Amino acid sequence: MFKTRITEMLNIKHPILQGAMQWLSRAELVAAVSNAGGLGIISSLTFPTAKELRQEIKKTKGMTRKPFAVNITLMPTARPINYEEYINAAIEEGVNIIETAGRSPKPYMKLLTDARVTVLHKCARVRDAKTAERVGVNAVTIVGFEAGGHPGMEDVTSFVRIPMTVDAVKIPVIAGGGITDARGFVAALALGAEGVVMGTRFMASKECNIHPQIRECLLQATETDTLMIERSIKNAARVLKTDFSQKVLDMEGKGATLEELLPYITGQRGKQAFEEGDVNAGIIHCGQVVGLIHDIPTVKEIIDGIISEARLIGKRLNDIGLFTGMA
Ligand SMILES: Cc1cc2nc3c(=O)[nH]c(=O)nc-3n(C[C@H](O)[C@H](O)[C@H](O)COP(=O)(O)O)c2cc1C
Repeated sequence: MFKTRITEMLNIKHPILQGAMQWLSRAELVAAVSNAGGLGIISSLTFPTAKELRQEIKKTKGMTRKPFAVNITLMPTARPINYEEYINAAIEEGVNIIETAGRSPKPYMKLLTDARVTVLHKCARVRDAKTAERVGVNAVTIVGFEAGGHPGMEDVTSFVRIPMTVDAVKIPVIAGGGITDARGFVAALALGAEGVVMGTRFMASKECNIHPQIRECLLQATETDTLMIERSIKNAARVLKTDFSQKVLDMEGKGATLEELLPYITGQRGKQAFEEGDVNAGIIHCGQVVGLIHDIPTVKEIIDGIISEARLIGKRLNDIGLFTGMA
């Protein structure tokens, strides 16, 4: 019922995308989102090799016949990564939607367009959205300062970034950062977005494979329980506030170098935290919207709930006269 250029382009029922989450967006979560009518996105960097990514894609194909995507995060990493290998694995497995993030996808656009892949690019600056459009991506995702993961260095919130991006590009815009329910969904559409991406909300879902203790922390967390770290290395990240992330922030405050920070911010430690349920084992990315999350529903309950409540919001807006005089 919410038909946008995004639902048409991606061949999905609802304009709701699941944000790629390293260690978390694996076959179970991805297939659940796609089966519920959204777009599930596999995080390729969860897998140490392209071969393992390929296996996860095969597993996902066994769990859903609906479209899903693979995310290629082009960010500085401790280990060197051959991105072409990952992209080729996805293409050869028949994935026809690829999301890039973190850096301009320009070096990979020929590879992607030759394979007739639909390219989504996620970024946190309006000017990066314009660059992505110029290099030929099909749609752009813009995330605001509230977002879990990497919301950029400019501290601009979704309410400002979304309409600015919509004004700046002609391709469809997907909005992320701070969206968890029908209110955020409708607001994003009102700002001109044609789809939304949610990370933190899907992290707190039944199909997301995290330790029950981490789930409990998410349920207890309020909107002020996140921190921005890694600013000093120009890779700002919004993470759950814990003793561990506070320590990283303190180290940055005292002028720690990248080499000194690396053992703390490495993804492997985050993996350990998710698996062992120890919030102080590593960094846990998390959005401010965690303060609005009070339950652990299934993915289908999340998506169906948003769609049905969005209708009620439409009715309420109608009742207060918003649509008066419209055909
Ligand atoms: C635990 C976690 C891990 C994430 N990992 C990645 C990642 O590997 N690559 C990426 O492009 N975005 C990553 N993100 C960002 C999400 O895909 C999404 O853009 C963001 O969560 C949206 O904001 P929200 O958390 O307010 O919904 C991550 C987010 C979270 C919460």
